[in-house]
Amino acid sequence: TATVNEQDDLAIGGCDVTTLVEQFGSPLYILDEDTLRTNCRLYREALQEYYPGSSQVLYASKAWSCLAVCAIAKSEGLGIDVVSGGELYTALQAGVSPDKIYFHGNNKSKAELELAIANECTIVVDNWLEIETLAQISGTKTTKVMLRVTPGIECHTHEYIRTGHLDSKFGFDPNQLDAVFSFVSQQPNLNCLGLHAHIGSQIFERQPHQDLGPVMVDWLGKASSYGLEISELNIGGGLGICYTQADDPPSIQEWVKGAATAVVNACQSQGISLPKLLCEPGRSLIGSACVTAYTVGSTKVVPEIRTYIAVDGGMSDNPRPITYQSQYRALIANKMSAPHSETVTIAGKHCESGDILIKDIQLPQIVAGDTLVVMATGAYNYSMASNYNRLPRPAAVLVKNGEANLILQRETYTDLLRQDLLPQRLNEVR
Ligand code: LLP
Repeated sequence: TATVNEQDDLAIGGCDVTTLVEQFGSPLYILDEDTLRTNCRLYREALQEYYPGSSQVLYASKAWSCLAVCAIAKSEGLGIDVVSGGELYTALQAGVSPDKIYFHGNNKSKAELELAIANECTIVVDNWLEIETLAQISGTKTTKVMLRVTPGIECHTHEYIRTGHLDSKFGFDPNQLDAVFSFVSQQPNLNCLGLHAHIGSQIFERQPHQDLGPVMVDWLGKASSYGLEISELNIGGGLGICYTQADDPPSIQEWVKGAATAVVNACQSQGISLPKLLCEPGRSLIGSACVTAYTVGSTKVVPEIRTYIAVDGGMSDNPRPITYQSQYRALIANKMSAPHSETVTIAGKHCESGDILIKDIQLPQIVAGDTLVVMATGAYNYSMASNYNRLPRPAAVLVKNGEANLILQRETYTDLLRQDLLPQRLNEVR
């Protein structure tokens, strides 16, 4: 929840953003607890409203995995979708119950699978090698699995974040389903709970998820002919959010209504009893809940062409513009009522011309020391952050009711060198 306070400053969660920057430094990720919690509840309540069977929302922690975020998702009753041993470890350390942890990934290592088996998490199996490995290494333990299948559904989003089309690296090809069901049904130590599909990310259309329901319910029918009692359907995530005014995604309620109704209708028409319905949003839970605050530094005016305003971060804390040409909105936190009189380009501080956070944005007149805030940076910013140019990763604070708690410490130069080793013969010449 963003407001403007008496100092004409931007406040998030009741905390003055410029004061937060004085206190915690910049760049700073500022995560608004209420927004995250509200989004969790909207999903949960919409499923209760539009899906008569049982349901479970999972938070796709690839969007932002850390202890505090997992703990909030957990306290809102959500499970966690993890895609690596690291995310799995984080969810476990945050106290998430293993039966609410679902482990994805198209090339999980044996060690990662063993970690998931030892903790009795559900493994979303992606491919043949994995299912054979699981049958082998589960031994006498029964491992809960789901099968990820490529649904063959196209959607309009950036090419890099489309996953539903047949030419995707993820999941079993639907043509292989007979062989997969037959194999799984013969493994006494694999308990096949359900089926999973994910179409893509930052999707504004409702149609793809409405098309997904009948496709998946068909698969359910097929599974039962192999004697598999499949009780869960996971329809993935993918609902888009508003980064700029041009973005117009459906609401969480509308999205859930469309996707859930499609499953209900397909089950009714095929006489199949309702499975437990899972979905696993990431971006639409956390994207709008965070802003990144930067301190403005140098300015370069290229006469008649462009004014560059440089901030103290960039592609290392938000790699989305350079990776996907993503667009963002920004504000000057200490000049909230000033007229937006200038057109400027917000540049990062990295040694790369492409390190531009926002091209041609209207903002108030800016001077060095101003606090520039980029909005809606909760998803795939911290989680994709790097140390490029050896920039320490920013701190993150969780804000609520005027209180700010540090949830990620700012990295230090010592942190940067933590993994560095100098062989003795090089040390001698130092
Ligand atoms: N489930 C699966 C299997 C996924 O692969 C993903 C996202 C999600 C759920 C969550 O999707 P969401 O609700 O967040 O759209 N780095 C890119 C996004 C990559 C998405 C990868 N998979 C970006 O910054 O736009």
